[in-house]
Amino acid sequence: MIKRAVVRGVGHYLPERVVENAEFEASLDTTDEWIRTRTGIERRHFAAEGETTSQLAVKAAQAALADAGLAATDIDAIVVATSTPDFTFPSVATMVQAGLGSTTGFAYDVQAVCAGFVFALANANGLILSGQATRVLVIGAETFSRIMDWTDRGTCVLFGDGAGALVLEAAEGSGTAGDRGILSVDLHSDGRYREILYVDGGVSSNGQAGHLRMQGNAVFKHAVQKLAETAHTALDKAGLDGGAVDWIVPHQANLRIITATAERMNVPMERVVVTVQDHGNTSAASIPLALSVGTARGQIKQGDVVVTEAIGGGLAWGSVVLRW
Ligand code: ACO
Repeated sequence: MIKRAVVRGVGHYLPERVVENAEFEASLDTTDEWIRTRTGIERRHFAAEGETTSQLAVKAAQAALADAGLAATDIDAIVVATSTPDFTFPSVATMVQAGLGSTTGFAYDVQAVCAGFVFALANANGLILSGQATRVLVIGAETFSRIMDWTDRGTCVLFGDGAGALVLEAAEGSGTAGDRGILSVDLHSDGRYREILYVDGGVSSNGQAGHLRMQGNAVFKHAVQKLAETAHTALDKAGLDGGAVDWIVPHQANLRIITATAERMNVPMERVVVTVQDHGNTSAASIPLALSVGTARGQIKQGDVVVTEAIGGGLAWGSVVLRW
């Protein structure tokens, strides 16, 4: 018998304001048609003025806890993946802990930009396997609308705000790929590619929050190659192949990247959870949002093999394979 980190609950929260592609036509040299055909994005949610990442995260966490039938005090670690924290410090995670009315356990943030949730999931898995925690709330929460340059049509139409959360719980497994829970993890980063995707502000550089800057084409090429590779490696580590995959739940940045990655993995699009049309790119929130929406749609069911994969600023990328 070995220990496994098994999903016990899932939930999400999206801010109320929905912005359709056509809204950008008034202020930018762009069209709904361009955005749809180049990215698959049709609309996204933006946080209201004063609505913060930790507030979105608390709502997603409450939904996941309700789904798990647990109270906040049943949780002994909270890991939040975000690149858009409310403040430089404290962490969003400790604000979520307080927001949930809990003083048990410990809480901290993980930052790996759009790959953040995969890194947080791997981290939470480590906490559970090493016995440091029994139940971990893993959250991806972002307000990327706060770091957009609204004059840059190449980036500001791509991103959205939101939050998703999972409750992971320690369980006994047999050590085979038939177990429920996290089966394998594959993580990478390469800091040489900083300039193709970064934010031009920060605490110790210019003291500003800054704006997102991206060479979309260059990121696109890395994404297609690296995502299929990491997903393959993670499946290998789990002792599974593409045929065993029930669902790919990819980072939702661009439908063309999602499609190309699925093709390279020999997995048909019917087995890919796609939410990018409704959420845009919500960075670290995109995978838990897709897991939650995919479950609510009746796509992901208990026992399904789910492959998550993501890439983002750093570059940082990786994949986690789990049986739901
Ligand atoms: N509306 C109209 N035209 C536009 C827009 C727009 N919103 N944005 C760019 N264009 C123009 C460009 O200016 C360019 O015009 P030009 O040929 O006159 O110079 C033309 O469209 C083509 O631009 P490309 O950047 O080559 O377009 P591409 O097909 O690569 O699509 C996109 C751009 C959507 C950004 C794509 O490259 C992409 O999705 N890249 C990956 C982004 C990503 O995956 N990010 C994930 C990580 S995000 C994170 O970690 C925070």
